[in-house]
Amino acid sequence: MPVFQATTSAPVNIACIKYWGKRDNTLILPTNSSLSITLSQDHLRSTTTARADPIFSETKLWLNGKEEDIKSGGRLERCLAQLKKMRKERIEDKNPNTPKISEWNLHVASYNNFPTAAGLASSASGFAALTSSIAALYGLNTFTPSEPAVASPSELSLVARLGSGSACRSLFGGFVAWEVGSSLTGEDSLAIQVAPQEHWPTMHALICVVNDAKKGTSSTSGMQRTVETSALLQHRIKDVVPARMKAIEKAIKDKDFDSFARITMADSNQFHAVALDTAPPIFYMNDVSRSIIALVEELNRVSLAKTGHLVAAYTFDAGPNAVIYTEEENVKQIIEIVVRYFPQSDTNPFPDPFKLFAGKQPKAAP
Ligand code: DP6
Repeated sequence: MPVFQATTSAPVNIACIKYWGKRDNTLILPTNSSLSITLSQDHLRSTTTARADPIFSETKLWLNGKEEDIKSGGRLERCLAQLKKMRKERIEDKNPNTPKISEWNLHVASYNNFPTAAGLASSASGFAALTSSIAALYGLNTFTPSEPAVASPSELSLVARLGSGSACRSLFGGFVAWEVGSSLTGEDSLAIQVAPQEHWPTMHALICVVNDAKKGTSSTSGMQRTVETSALLQHRIKDVVPARMKAIEKAIKDKDFDSFARITMADSNQFHAVALDTAPPIFYMNDVSRSIIALVEELNRVSLAKTGHLVAAYTFDAGPNAVIYTEEENVKQIIEIVVRYFPQSDTNPFPDPFKLFAGKQPKAAP
């Protein structure tokens, strides 16, 4: 009897144009398009193994070794149902001799190599890895270039989106857009690759872990409150993001770091302004986060005066941790400066909030 099991990894992605707000909470349809960069496979990632077996009496999920409840009618169930439907309709119904593994229960185990839910996009890599591992188990994606995949990465992004919005972007490497779409059923709200990583290989992300504790207000509840209460969000959706999406895609195509950096920093700041415009207000950044902004702004001011170009771009998700985008030639200098102003925790006498790791990967990751 063959074993039906697959393991895949998906990296974290960090948005430059932020997704913040849903127009449909169940289908996870966003109020605006967004764009992110997927980190390389060897850094922050989730690795998921999925196994289907007729002897399993129920479907079970383990996250970092701990069994989790599977909420009836919840996000995970919706992802699984969609993948089973694809397997049944596209493979089993067409090939009567194929084992009907879509009818079997699953055991799914997922590990993150970084702190879960610390504002480091663990739900993004988690649901992307879950989707791709089950897609591999079900034979929906294929790794041979000669054979077309039964489901394209964009189609699989629709499934990952049902688990967590930002997860749809982690189905691709490189520079990825999640299109807002206009349909009520969501089939056009999918991820597409704007450019592969090799297009701009000198682009680096430095992850600065300011605090690796679980965050206060989750993205899901925070953005719902913003949709319900923020007038600024409406301005962002209509007047700001569509133009920014076009501009950042052009900056990426042209490898124009100055434009990329200006748009990325402006969008991070507007996202946090929108969080502050929520009632009651949401504060994701702390004093260390704000000092990092001040440091990057100062580095850019000096660099602009000297060379006419910017050197770095900060961006913050729903937590205090900073991601600094910079090009290869500046990585060493930026790390040295960040570490000088924010000593790493090994040697750092200050308590937790001052803990800061610079580098492409937090040192705390196992
Ligand atoms: C600030 O994708 O975690 O990181 O769809 O409710 O699961 P849900 O939210 P989630 O939100 C991510 C928000 C963000 C911005 C971004 O990644 O675009």
